[in-house]
Amino acid sequence: MVDLSVRIGDVTLANPVMPASGTFSYEVGNIIDINRLGAMVAKTISREPRWGNPTPRMAETEAGIIQSIGLPGKGVRYFLDHMIPEYKKYTPPLVASISAATAEDFAAMARDVSVPEVDVIEVNISCPTRDPSGGNFALHTEHTRNVVSGIRAATDKPVWAKLSPNAGDLVGIAVGAEQGGADALVISNTFLSLKIDTDTFRPSLGNKLGGLVSPALKPIVLRMVYQCAKEVSIPIIGLGGVTKAEDVVEYMLAGASAVGVGYAAFRNPSALTAIIDDLEKWCERKGIARLSDLIGAMIDEPPADTMDAAARPL
Ligand SMILES: Cc1cc2nc3c(=O)[nH]c(=O)nc-3n(C[C@H](O)[C@H](O)[C@H](O)COP(=O)(O)O)c2cc1C
Repeated sequence: MVDLSVRIGDVTLANPVMPASGTFSYEVGNIIDINRLGAMVAKTISREPRWGNPTPRMAETEAGIIQSIGLPGKGVRYFLDHMIPEYKKYTPPLVASISAATAEDFAAMARDVSVPEVDVIEVNISCPTRDPSGGNFALHTEHTRNVVSGIRAATDKPVWAKLSPNAGDLVGIAVGAEQGGADALVISNTFLSLKIDTDTFRPSLGNKLGGLVSPALKPIVLRMVYQCAKEVSIPIIGLGGVTKAEDVVEYMLAGASAVGVGYAAFRNPSALTAIIDDLEKWCERKGIARLSDLIGAMIDEPPADTMDAAARPL
């Protein structure tokens, strides 16, 4: 029997596979056994109801989709009163994801969702298309540290900071989030992108710019996780392009303690449970009794000296 459990700070997950915010809700309980997931990550909520961005909100590309949903939702009150009871029909830890336009609102939202039924607060400080005038704190180290420390002061719940791959210095921002008091980092949100309709000459998305999600991005996010894991001591949840058990293994070897899955579940709604099954089989095949032993276990020797290698006899 393989031990698939992992710890994210004080929170123990039965296995490291959880859905990505915005790609999951309790409604998929009709299709998969939600109780098998490592955690339940809810769609990002804002204080007030939001309509979201103009349509079309999704467009296909050669390698994945770009989307600009704009965080539509019924607001925090609806989440507390109507959605939490639905989530609590299931057993995995519940991760509430919050968004706001100012650091003060973020702290107030964190206070609002700090109810007993919520196990973790994920702070979406990185939505690339939410609103050009605010919300994407994770492009700047100082803003990140500031917003996270305000949230830290407002709640006793574990705080996971979701970072942006669009930041220039992601490692600096990861350190800023840790200094602000985050208990874990989620790396990462989507890559800001553009698609143009060559018949109309207009952007394919109503909001013009969107976030690209694609398995092709996995090596890039994996590199980001690897680099951040070297500099922070809090756990990291790797998020980007996971479609199979080996992707989970790769993220863990790079230093992640768990992974999120979004896109893969659009292609196959039972992808998450299939990945969990395959992960267990992979461990059995490899004789790995405890999955968490893989965290940061990539053999990480300095690159070979090319001159040295060239001088070696064939
Ligand atoms: C349709 C859609 C909606 C999303 N909504 C949210 C959201 O509400 N909050 C959030 O933090 N991320 C959101 N994301 C980003 C995902 O959580 C995740 O970061 C991204 O899809 C990368 O993971 P993947 O490659 O496994 O899809 C959304 C992504 C998609 C495709």
